[in-house]
Amino acid sequence: MKILVTGAAGFIASNLIPRLLQRSDHVIGVDNFFLGKRAYVHKHPNFEFHEFDLLDLEALTALVTQAKPDRVWHLAANSDISYGTKYTDFDLKGGTLVTYNVLEAMRHAGISEIVFSSSGAVYGEPAIMPTPENYGPIFPISLYAASKAACEALITAFAHNYDIRCWIYRFGNIVGPNPTHGVIHDFVLRLREERTKLVVLGDGSQAKPYVYVEDCLDGMEFGIANARERVNCFNLAVEDQTTVREITDWTIEAMGIDRASIDVQYGDSPRGWRGDVPYVKLDTRRMTALGWTPRLSSAESVRRTIRDTVEQFRNGPLS
Ligand SMILES: NC(=O)c1ccc[n+]([C@@H]2O[C@H](COP(=O)([O-])OP(=O)(O)OC[C@H]3O[C@@H](n4cnc5c(N)ncnc54)[C@H](O)[C@@H]3O)[C@@H](O)[C@H]2O)c1
Repeated sequence: MKILVTGAAGFIASNLIPRLLQRSDHVIGVDNFFLGKRAYVHKHPNFEFHEFDLLDLEALTALVTQAKPDRVWHLAANSDISYGTKYTDFDLKGGTLVTYNVLEAMRHAGISEIVFSSSGAVYGEPAIMPTPENYGPIFPISLYAASKAACEALITAFAHNYDIRCWIYRFGNIVGPNPTHGVIHDFVLRLREERTKLVVLGDGSQAKPYVYVEDCLDGMEFGIANARERVNCFNLAVEDQTTVREITDWTIEAMGIDRASIDVQYGDSPRGWRGDVPYVKLDTRRMTALGWTPRLSSAESVRRTIRDTVEQFRNGPLS
């Protein structure tokens, strides 16, 4: 099987690609290194990497038409939610338009399967928690989430019009090796520089489900193998939640810093930044009914990722 992965130098893709290479003939990756890192780009005889911006429809269509992959894993997006709030066309272009380009290149080349990384953020601040996939109407509160909702709509519309099958996954927070962003990544890098003070966005009560990346990828592959509708949409999360206060304490401990010697400054309100959804609980019964269960809890995923990240960034940030 031939597979195209967008966002190939990013966190989730760099964990996915070695798995795909074990059972696929050929994997093609695209990234523009907006957040992705050269250190995460896989080297393998059956992996080819292309550096360009997915906003370049001509380059993308040429690649997809020439390579003719059997399936596209579309993981590229801007994952920095607060950046997208500062530059209001950023998610529109880097999320929505990029997704349109991927679909249009697929249509042009006759490619019929797409796997998409959406987010539980599409629900905004829902009245029902745990939130099921059929909750609605959805009212996203960040431009990032608005873009994800728009991407989902484009994907399902292309699916219905151009004979494409899609798997849309609404993730909780995904954690694991090769991070490019996120609370654990930020805390570890900041505590390397300054061991006596840590400023935390939000009051620390934020509580979200953290999913270990291997469980996330197992779930995505399980869904592809077992859900064969034209449109398949799943929440992908774990049942428990971890608070930012817990992540703060566990990271300080893992960095070998004495808790009494550090001034941790929390914000006044739960929301870490505009557009942040502080409390998230996703209903995962649709996935578990299919037969998938995550191996690690949120707490285990976070603790393991803190250990991995401290180790991975022992000598500083990667480029
Ligand atoms: N990590 C999470 O907790 C999480 C949660 C919900 C959804 N997601 C989604 O999953 C996907 C992967 O997330 P991740 O955590 O690996 O993020 P990431 O930022 O590490 O990976 C995304 C990659 O896409 C690349 N990219 C962005 N815009 C591009 C463009 N225009 N052209 C080419 N490459 C481009 C970036 O350089 C980066 O390497 C994203 O779509 C993200 O929105 C992630």
